[in-house]
Amino acid sequence: MNILLLGSGGREHALAWKIAQSPRVDKLYIAPGNAGTAQVGENVDIKATDFDALKVFALERSIDMIVVGPEDPLVRGIYDYFQNDVTTQDIAVIGPSMKGAQLEGSKEFAKEFMLRHNIPTARHKSITAETLNEGLAFLETLKAPYVLKADGLCAGKGVLILPTLEEAKKELQEMLGGMFGQASATVVIEEYLSGIECSVFVLTDGEHYKVLPVAKDYKRIGEGDTGLNTGGMGSVTPVPFANDEFMQKVRERIIEPTIQGLRDEEIVYKGFIFLGLMNVAGDPMVIEYNVRMGDPETESVMLRLQSDLVDLLEGVCQDDLHRRTMILDPRTAACVMLVSGGYPGKYEKGLPITGFNLAETTDSVLFHAGTAVKNGRIVTNGGRVIAVCSYGDTKEEALEKSYRTADMLSFEGKYFRRDIGFDL
Ligand code: AMP
Ligand code: GLY
Repeated sequence: MNILLLGSGGREHALAWKIAQSPRVDKLYIAPGNAGTAQVGENVDIKATDFDALKVFALERSIDMIVVGPEDPLVRGIYDYFQNDVTTQDIAVIGPSMKGAQLEGSKEFAKEFMLRHNIPTARHKSITAETLNEGLAFLETLKAPYVLKADGLCAGKGVLILPTLEEAKKELQEMLGGMFGQASATVVIEEYLSGIECSVFVLTDGEHYKVLPVAKDYKRIGEGDTGLNTGGMGSVTPVPFANDEFMQKVRERIIEPTIQGLRDEEIVYKGFIFLGLMNVAGDPMVIEYNVRMGDPETESVMLRLQSDLVDLLEGVCQDDLHRRTMILDPRTAACVMLVSGGYPGKYEKGLPITGFNLAETTDSVLFHAGTAVKNGRIVTNGGRVIAVCSYGDTKEEALEKSYRTADMLSFEGKYFRRDIGFDL
């Protein structure tokens, strides 16, 4: 079959790498892709949100399945766009319907959904400019620190955690006043949950589901989880605290009520559900839903998936995911992200990357995040540049291999965290 994968980051290179290994694939296209995806498929110069151009391409090339990497096309309704058009309705889109994508597209929608279905999450209140006074009063009932979330998509930047009540009140007003544009016209105020986070990935056909390897990502730029938030500086899987007992609770309290809730509300959902969870003294609580895989979690998760990903995705399309098998590699996989100097602030692009020949002699797997080819050379093309991933019998071994390979690659300003997995 022919598959079109949408997106251009490390997550998409990891998905493309895995999809390309499937004997069922005739042709794999990636729109728009990066220098890494070009090594395992054919890049197509179309934006992941240009539905009209994607449709023309998909029909021309007899695409059978579209796998959506990032949230943007999903929140904008790519599933419905292809489903509701007689010429494209036979093309399977892996992802939720536009309504289902609201689980990520609107924090308020997600919180109300959890409340309706008794799914454990932090206490909250949604506030707009009209209800500011209620918001200020709600803040008074909470303990520090205070969590404020822009309702809409903000490319991972819409959450503020404030140490004092004064700051929380001030920032609430600024958010409602347009700090994140329309995305913060509604703000969700949340109780602060204290614990350790993990990312749980579920693949569902809308009725049955499979749980992929649990991972932990590291979002802050600085070692010891300090400094600004980034797209993600590394990941490790498995997560020791996500043991059988914890995962049983995740299944019973979160995954099953989520899938049942979607069914009860007649929300079509055939794709990945990413649960951002907090382990609060042994009990899982939902911090957020995402409607896609995580980045850089996918990079390490794909290493541990031994089964054919395309077979599982076919199970999603054909509503028989329960008949497919998912075999996992028992080893640890660790991913270290090499980023541009200055990231997540301002950084340069177009800097040549060297050392691939050395890195290729190791058994690390490199996934390109922000790279491009310029005059035949691979250059930097984003904040996150390359994810270096390795297996190990232990976390330490996997990380040591990734760090050794990370040292072989060079570009001006290269930075990475040397403490990935420190808290596990
Ligand atoms: P989100 O964009 O919802 O993933 O939030 C970004 C980060 O803020 C999360 O990964 C958590 O580290 C933190 N966070 C969000 N909500 C809460 C909460 N209710 N309690 C504690 N930390 C939170
Ligand atoms: N690693 C977190 C995310 O993809 O949102």
